Amino acid sequence: MAISLRTTEEIYLMRAAGKIAADVLVMIEPHVKAGITTGELDDICQEYILSQGATSACLGYHGYPKCVCISVNEEVCHGIPGKRRLHDGDILNIDVTVIKDGYLGDTSKTFIVGETSPLNQRLVKIAQEALYTGIKTVYAGSNLMDIGAAIQKVADKARFSIVRDYCGHGINKVFHDEPTVLHYKNHDFLPLKAGMTFTIEPMINIGTHKCRVNRHNGWTVTTADKLSSAQFEHTILVTEDGCEIFTLRPEEDGVNGISRFMINRPSA
Ligand code: MF3
Ligand code: CO
Ligand code: CO
Repeated sequence: MAISLRTTEEIYLMRAAGKIAADVLVMIEPHVKAGITTGELDDICQEYILSQGATSACLGYHGYPKCVCISVNEEVCHGIPGKRRLHDGDILNIDVTVIKDGYLGDTSKTFIVGETSPLNQRLVKIAQEALYTGIKTVYAGSNLMDIGAAIQKVADKARFSIVRDYCGHGINKVFHDEPTVLHYKNHDFLPLKAGMTFTIEPMINIGTHKCRVNRHNGWTVTTADKLSSAQFEHTILVTEDGCEIFTLRPEEDGVNGISRFMINRPSA
């Protein structure tokens, strides 16, 4: 099936949803401290999302029980907020997906609690670089498979591994739509068109790329070797000459060659 394209009206709505999702990550930052539980962080996110006239897309999604996903250290993704308490040196990904006026915004960031090990610091930095490098390949006429190829180079150079079991995805009124966005070298030939909206959300591991799903709760994904994993995610719109990052945070704007309106097409 052909990938659906956003209308001008839909672009406004996705921009609004993306802004709320991004704002949740900005809002929660001062609360991410040693001593707080992931369940408490979830409560704060839920209250904020509702205050913005939005709802969580995760809550109730295939039975998911909480508002956001919070994945600590060896947890790769889909960590269920609960009694786990944060400690100095932890790294944790908070993944926020909201629905506003029917449209979705999906974004995540890995936070560091206090001071972490140099290896964890490097992992977090490389995971963010992986996302940014993927984003920088996107323009109308580039290819979907360029994203994974670019990310693979970043991970290989850092000698980290890339999770293969979870991918980016088309997003609009539908949470997980086509196309599937692989974060590793692949042959998914798909010329990108202006108006496509999808996420890029590489999960990078220190050790093995292999994952396990918690067999008690059916959700929480951990690394098979229990070494750390880090992830960053943005929702983007393909434009003629690059892409628009719907979920950009102010702290990212103008750093590492990133801005809301990316110009990525190589000049002739
Ligand atoms: N936000 C995740 C993603 O990036 C999906 C979470 S689904 C949930 O696709 F049910 F676990 F919340
Ligand atoms: Co996503
Ligand atoms: Co997400």
